[in-house]
Amino acid sequence: MTVLVTGAAGFIGFHVAAALLDAGRPVVGIDNLDPYYDVALKEARLALLLARPGFTFVRGDLAEPATMEGVVADHPGITGIVHLAAQAGVRYSLENPRAYVRANVSGHLEMLEAARRLPALTRMVYASTSSVYGDNAKRPYAVTDPVERPVSLYAATKRADELMSRVYAHLYGIPLVGLRFFTVYGPWGRPDMAYFLFARAILEGRPIRLFGNGELLRDFTYIDDIVAGVLAALDRPLDWGDEPPHRLFNLGNNRPEPVTRLVALLEAALGRKAIVEPTGMQPGDVAATAADIAESTRDLGFAPRTPLEVGIPAFVEWLRGRNTA
Ligand SMILES: NC(=O)c1ccc[n+]([C@@H]2O[C@H](COP(=O)([O-])OP(=O)(O)OC[C@H]3O[C@@H](n4cnc5c(N)ncnc54)[C@H](O)[C@@H]3O)[C@@H](O)[C@H]2O)c1
Repeated sequence: MTVLVTGAAGFIGFHVAAALLDAGRPVVGIDNLDPYYDVALKEARLALLLARPGFTFVRGDLAEPATMEGVVADHPGITGIVHLAAQAGVRYSLENPRAYVRANVSGHLEMLEAARRLPALTRMVYASTSSVYGDNAKRPYAVTDPVERPVSLYAATKRADELMSRVYAHLYGIPLVGLRFFTVYGPWGRPDMAYFLFARAILEGRPIRLFGNGELLRDFTYIDDIVAGVLAALDRPLDWGDEPPHRLFNLGNNRPEPVTRLVALLEAALGRKAIVEPTGMQPGDVAATAADIAESTRDLGFAPRTPLEVGIPAFVEWLRGRNTA
């Protein structure tokens, strides 16, 4: 019943690992503490996990074949994998495309190879993204929609992960579940994401730049709802039909909100007004994201229950505690 969580020092990986430990399940976490954003935040998450019984940590780069060979040799009893390690972020993929191919494509291949060699493995769940839908005009996005027109290299690497997973399910019968996350936020979140950048800027009296003039719509999804969906994807019996055992699901809030509303809620929770600078669209950005979650609800019991007006104050409370710690 040991679960391997990759990206355990990352935002979603930390919360998933904590939830598994809460349920009494042993967790092996792996992360290379990549310096893409504040390593101190990753170390602080990790310290909380390391303090808990049942948690074992491996520091290493999973795109390096020897790293995963070592994990497989040391932990042959792993029954489930939640693969969340990646080079995330849309905008940074214009700046450093190689980091994406290395972590997301080579790294994903090493995870599939590890899955092949783990004798007790029953399923591997992995992170994809709403970005695979590109700028689809049809909304909400359904998992059956075409995804052949990505607009960022980040999206292209995640789509490659889905295709490689399909191949491994076909060739080796490894049960694989890909989750397309829609803008996840909450306590212990990622400092490169808009809600976090805005909160810091508002607190420090700096202007915030609203891309797409604030008219972008995002399906903001609270971390606890995502964790529930990830655990269901790991544990729920799934009908694979006549196809190889590979399924894709959207995990989103299904309630797209304008970014201006996010700003208003941040202002209310922080008790300060934002200085807003409207800015045009950024290359690689899409105008709106909205998840069709009918299949996720039916097959995973996925039912997001946290609206932005609850989730943003929870995030701000955490941020205040961290700033004063
Ligand atoms: N947060 C979101 O809104 C969101 C949306 C869509 C998809 N996702 C996907 O969900 C997953 C988790 O995202 P997150 O927000 O927790 O990101 P994160 O950056 O906080 O976590 C990823 C972790 O992976 C680690 N990592 C990166 N490359 C590695 C490597 N080669 N070897 C070992 N560890 C490595 C990083 O150090 C980091 O701690 C990612 O796959 C991301 O692409 C996230």
